[in-house]
Amino acid sequence: MQHIRARILGAAAGGGLPQWNCGCENCRMARAGDIPSQTQSSLAVSANGRDWAILNASPDIRAQLAATPELHPTGLRDMPLRSVLVTNGDIDHVAGLLTLREMQPFTLYATPGIHEVIAGNPVFAALAPSVVTRSPLALDTPAEIAPGLLATLFAVPGKVPLYMEGAEVETDLISEQTVGVELRAGSSRAFYIPGCARLDAALRARLSGAALVFFDGTLWRDDEMIAAGLGGKTGRRMGHMSMSGPEGSIAAFEGLDVGRKVFVHMNNTNPVLRPDAPERGTAERAGWTIGQDGMELSA
Ligand code: MLT
Ligand code: MN
Ligand code: ZN
Repeated sequence: MQHIRARILGAAAGGGLPQWNCGCENCRMARAGDIPSQTQSSLAVSANGRDWAILNASPDIRAQLAATPELHPTGLRDMPLRSVLVTNGDIDHVAGLLTLREMQPFTLYATPGIHEVIAGNPVFAALAPSVVTRSPLALDTPAEIAPGLLATLFAVPGKVPLYMEGAEVETDLISEQTVGVELRAGSSRAFYIPGCARLDAALRARLSGAALVFFDGTLWRDDEMIAAGLGGKTGRRMGHMSMSGPEGSIAAFEGLDVGRKVFVHMNNTNPVLRPDAPERGTAERAGWTIGQDGMELSA
């Protein structure tokens, strides 16, 4: 029987923990070794344990691959990596593609809209078209991204990549620019949604009955970065719903029939990254697991 194996390659949001230019409490503790460091947003998935797909290619992918024996070469140039799928065009999810440029065959999956963003940036021509197949995936259409593993992309509320923002930014856009992934292997069903501005009724219905959900854990509270003196942006402005509060993800998942709930894509300011933080206890008591690098889950 096939099942879904998932390994968190990177549990942090863009910037990672510690972030190079950040002196917040969490980043200082991570530098001192008082809390575990976390690399940037990525998940490896497989249905057979031999062939893998990577969901989001983070700037830390080189170190992530080095730390993951399942993804090491099995011959001179034979790799267990079959495909890379990106859920949006943000730098934390596409910059790692540049590391994968050594003439290694794989398929790059994304929506047509995200493929357009990638194609519009000539630096990605480093992924030679003779070896890397760019496969546009229409929304709500399953594709086999690794043997026995089906992925279906669906639009979730979000926004365009930060570097594509114009003067006016729609942060609650439902389009090909931000998607979630439904994974199926045999009768197992799991979800990967590292960025989501709102849990609407359609998304709730989709998630119902899933064995495993990886979900956007960017901020604990919407004004967390402002309160920490680290800039003017709320989570909402960045297209991320927060964990806490009446409109947060913890409340939104209450009563939803989901097996295992795991937060990923945590910003370095998020207090849940500290094992002894009261916020972490609150999330855990509500049934959430705080993801971390190297964590393996299956469904
Ligand atoms: C985000 O998740 O909001 C983005 O990764 C931000 C960024 O590109 O730095
Ligand atoms: Mn991000
Ligand atoms: Zn920080």
